[in-house]
Amino acid sequence: MKHYFSRISIMCLAVLFGGVLAGTSAAETKNPNIADKKELVIKRGYSEEASNCIECHAKETPGIIESWKLGKMGHAGVSCYDCHMVEKKSPMAGQCKGIKGTRTFISPMVSSKTCSRCHPVEVEQFLKSGHADLSRKAVYDTEKAGGVLVKLQWHNEGAAFMGNEKGSPSNTAPQTSGCQMCHGSEVQVGPDKKPIKSSWPAGVGTKYPDGSVGTCTACHTRHKFSIAEARKPEACASCHLGPDHPDIEIYIESKHGQMFQTKGEHWEWDSAPGTWQPGDYTAPTCAVCHMSGIGKLQTTHNVNDRLKWDLMHKKSEIRSGVRGDGVKGDKLMRKVCVNCHGPSHTDATMETLDNSVALYNLYWDGAVKMKEELKAKGLLKKDPWRDGYQELMYYLWHHTGRRARQGSAMNGPDYAHWHGFFQMFQVYKDMQDIYEWRIKNNKIEDLSTVMSSGPL
Ligand code: HEC
Ligand code: HEC
Ligand code: HEC
Ligand code: HEC
Ligand code: HEC
Ligand code: HEC
Ligand code: HEC
Ligand code: HEC
Repeated sequence: MKHYFSRISIMCLAVLFGGVLAGTSAAETKNPNIADKKELVIKRGYSEEASNCIECHAKETPGIIESWKLGKMGHAGVSCYDCHMVEKKSPMAGQCKGIKGTRTFISPMVSSKTCSRCHPVEVEQFLKSGHADLSRKAVYDTEKAGGVLVKLQWHNEGAAFMGNEKGSPSNTAPQTSGCQMCHGSEVQVGPDKKPIKSSWPAGVGTKYPDGSVGTCTACHTRHKFSIAEARKPEACASCHLGPDHPDIEIYIESKHGQMFQTKGEHWEWDSAPGTWQPGDYTAPTCAVCHMSGIGKLQTTHNVNDRLKWDLMHKKSEIRSGVRGDGVKGDKLMRKVCVNCHGPSHTDATMETLDNSVALYNLYWDGAVKMKEELKAKGLLKKDPWRDGYQELMYYLWHHTGRRARQGSAMNGPDYAHWHGFFQMFQVYKDMQDIYEWRIKNNKIEDLSTVMSSGPL
């Protein structure tokens, strides 16, 4: 497909930029990484307003123009104006220097609502997924889990417990620099309709001032918006990594990841939407299993569609309600595997996941039982982060337990074992010791022996 597409691209470029006039002199080029052709004069295909944006921004923000013109939408004539123009009455309506005093209003913020004008199916699917509202609510909902998240972000991380003023810029820094850059934010605007309080830019589930939700650049970055990029595992890795959900690390150590790393540069990444199939690649990437069309399956922008279990929360249940339909999800995921594996291989792998989930749940239930007894006897501290038992329980679920489950799900034996189950039994035994000591002495030990930043 690559050759077909690049030929079209060259043709489109020739039409669109056929009227490009000579570039500015080399002396004016300040950034050596940016091409010399800064002065674009667009003669065909755009309204005057739309070509003004491009011509002026070629000088003002050449980096944006350079990536835009390489993308398929640049070739198809979808311009700055199409995505950034907003109605005057929009709560995001502003004017940049170049259009002050005109009747055109724009915003630097662009949500999935804008894309839905031309890609309604993708946006509809995306909005039903965990990447939309659920993602943002995980860090912005002040009610969620009894306010426990707000407590983590503001009271603890933001040092309110040390007297740092709640809501002050330094208090919210952990939320704005960390959580929200993956999960998304609720954008607030000032009187000039520009974003304030570090609430923009932000991650995938961002809610915009007009109520719309979703930042599509999470996987196909601006301004090329390439599907080839989104098909690569690195597109997911900016968020799906680290001690608590090491999906990219698991993938890289899996056989699939081995093949991606040794052969991926020769794979065909640019096939037309829906036509990317085994043969273009020889092992699946994240996108192949979770999103792309393959064999009998259609592409989906709802990443929950092909999942059976909930492998992130404290107890793993079969997905239902807003988290998807686990029974159906199981069937769909198996349809991915059987394009390249036989049914015995697929069934064996999926059974391994079910068994790992059952084992994890056994540990979790044991931990809950001990905790309930400690609670009933008044043997838990109010602040869980000063209480060794509760701290370990957090790591059992949120770090080691997720690694064991997700390592099993995606064929990463080192994560399933050494970073997963191997650490789980040790954490559990330490919890048992603390539990037994408290029950025997009917008091809480003075100092926690647990070091939060330890090897967990
Ligand atoms: C297909 C739609 C689309 C087109 C076409 C488009 N943009 Fe964007 N632009 C976006 C999206 C999406 C974002 C990210 C917005 C967000 O995170 O809220 C963005 C962000 C921006 C930003 C703010 C982010 C930053 O890095 O400062 C600027 C400035 C911008 N675009 C300028 C332009 C210019 C100039 C053009 C014309 C060459 C253009 N855009 C074309 C969709 C588009
Ligand atoms: C004559 C030059 C010129 C024209 C025409 C122009 N711009 Fe701009 N634009 C600028 C400059 C300079 C800036 C940076 C200063 C500012 O924000 O006012 C800017 C900033 C922006 C930003 C970022 C705003 C922010 O708050 O970060 C966006 C988005 C943008 N322009 C989009 C557009 C769109 C869409 C059009 C066409 C409707 C357009 N521009 C037309 C010169 C221009
Ligand atoms: C005015 C209509 C329009 C809007 C608005 C629009 N698109 Fe597109 N988009 C298109 C067209 C047309 C194509 C097909 C270009 C082609 O393949 O020739 C396309 C293609 C794409 C592709 C496939 C690119 C590839 O590499 O094959 C992606 C991804 C995409 N759009 C994302 C977005 C996102 C994200 C937004 C919102 C920020 C958006 N689009 C807004 C018209 C639009
Ligand atoms: C900008 C950060 C970001 C990127 C990039 C990203 N994700 Fe996510 N993803 C998240 C967050 C945050 C969640 C948790 C959402 C929630 O609260 O349920 C999530 C959840 C998921 C889930 C579980 C669905 C659920 O919420 O129940 C899957 C599966 C998933 N992502 C797959 C992917 C794949 C595949 C890619 C790349 C093609 C990707 N993600 C790219 C941030 C991201
Ligand atoms: C590096 C990106 C990243 C950062 C930073 C991050 N998360 Fe997440 N978070 C994710 C991903 C990805 C998932 C999905 C994990 C999975 O499937 O196991 C997730 C899952 C969650 C979940 C479970 C999903 C749900 O809807 O209940 C919660 C709650 C959560 N994160 C809260 C937070 C909070 C609070 C912070 C900051 C203190 C934070 N996260 C920081 C990426 C991130
Ligand atoms: C979690 C990562 C991720 C996010 C977020 C994402 N996309 Fe995609 N998108 C992909 C992948 C992967 C493909 C390629 C599917 C394939 O292999 O054909 C794709 C393909 C597309 C295409 C090409 C047509 C198609 O459906 O295959 C369009 C258009 C598109 N995306 C638009 C959007 C829009 C609009 C948004 C925001 C609502 C968005 N994407 C958000 C990963 C993502
Ligand atoms: C071989 C196919 C395959 C590949 C490749 C793959 N996954 Fe998965 N993924 C799965 C399966 C199977 C599950 C478990 C499904 C279930 O619940 O039954 C899963 C689960 C997940 C979850 C857990 C959702 C939850 O419940 O918390 C996330 C997040 C995720 N994958 C993200 C990714 C990312 C990111 C990549 C690439 C770095 C990736 N996956 C690569 C098959 C795959
Ligand atoms: C595009 C083809 C393709 C798809 C789709 C695919 N795999 Fe694989 N898988 C492979 C190849 C090739 C290997 C490497 C076999 C080898 O080691 O020689 C492999 C290896 C594995 C292995 C390592 C054990 C072994 O056979 O060496 C497991 C486990 C696995 N796949 C599970 C899955 C599961 C589960 C799915 C679906 C969720 C899946 N695969 C989807 C191609 C694929």
